[in-house]
Amino acid sequence: MKLSVPGRATATAVVAAVTLLAGGSIAGAAPAPEPVAIAAAPDIPVANVKAHLTQLQSIATANGGNRAHGRAGYKASIDYVKAKLDAAGFTTTLQQFTSSGRTGYNLIADWPGGDTGQVIMAGSHLDSVTSGAGINDNGSGSAAVLETALAVARADYQPTKHLRFAWWGAEELGLVGSKYYVNSLATSDRSRISGYLNFDMIGSPNPGYFVYDDDPAIEKTFQEYYTGLGIATEIETEGDGRSDHAPFKSAGVPVGGLFSGADYIKTAAQAAEWGGTAGKAFDACYHSSCDTTANIDDTALDRNSDAVAYAVWELSE
Ligand code: TRP
Ligand code: CA
Ligand code: ZN
Repeated sequence: MKLSVPGRATATAVVAAVTLLAGGSIAGAAPAPEPVAIAAAPDIPVANVKAHLTQLQSIATANGGNRAHGRAGYKASIDYVKAKLDAAGFTTTLQQFTSSGRTGYNLIADWPGGDTGQVIMAGSHLDSVTSGAGINDNGSGSAAVLETALAVARADYQPTKHLRFAWWGAEELGLVGSKYYVNSLATSDRSRISGYLNFDMIGSPNPGYFVYDDDPAIEKTFQEYYTGLGIATEIETEGDGRSDHAPFKSAGVPVGGLFSGADYIKTAAQAAEWGGTAGKAFDACYHSSCDTTANIDDTALDRNSDAVAYAVWELSE
């Protein structure tokens, strides 16, 4: 941190000196300007993301088959994610609330540094429904956000903006955890959030590539990533406001996110574009007992996890 400030200042000084020289008569003698280093987003190892999903599956299996709000499997999921973040150097906060007579938790992880007047948040709901382990819904988003946070720590990424990651409780009961978080923020703290990125279902077995049609700058960032891969995206239409970005949007925070599809049916045109099976749901195991580690398309999970990291890096630098 201390080193990067003089480093940037030096690079700026070099650019200024070159600009002056270029305007004068000895431009040809000027050395090439030293570019200011902009850190590139890392390639997120999908094997790491899948390892988190294996752990979440084991947690569900050991706790009655689910990771639902108020159940032992939810608390064990929170403990798993929190331990990884604590070991990596995040400042974690467990936010407790009550819903339907049961205790729920949000987990907030702040990466020390950056301008806390400009916060970039990435979040996902960690709870499942009671009928299954919730590996696509929403182990997938939770694992990708976790692995992105761990990549921030591995890179010791020190962006201009402040990074905050979140795992929401009781989304399946009606966005309860994320609403609780947004309502608990002082108005001044809400206005410090420059953007909230939501990831709910990003490894659907018959995947689509949907981008939320919300904040234009966030949408463009995801679009840029997929254009680079040569993959067409569509605007998310399977229910605006059906996930944890909704309370942020209502509070005036710019939002965006990715989605690979739930119980809507893939059309022939979409199958031609993305592969997979036309006439079949994007996730036929949505909210079912078959939402296990077998219910994941590895390619979609890999691309979308890399997109999470790309957006976090790009939007915070
Ligand atoms: N939030 C829903 C759930 O967890 C899934 C879902 C349906 C969704 N439609 C969506 C998520 C649109 C994001 C965008 O069950
Ligand atoms: Ca990857
Ligand atoms: Zn769900």
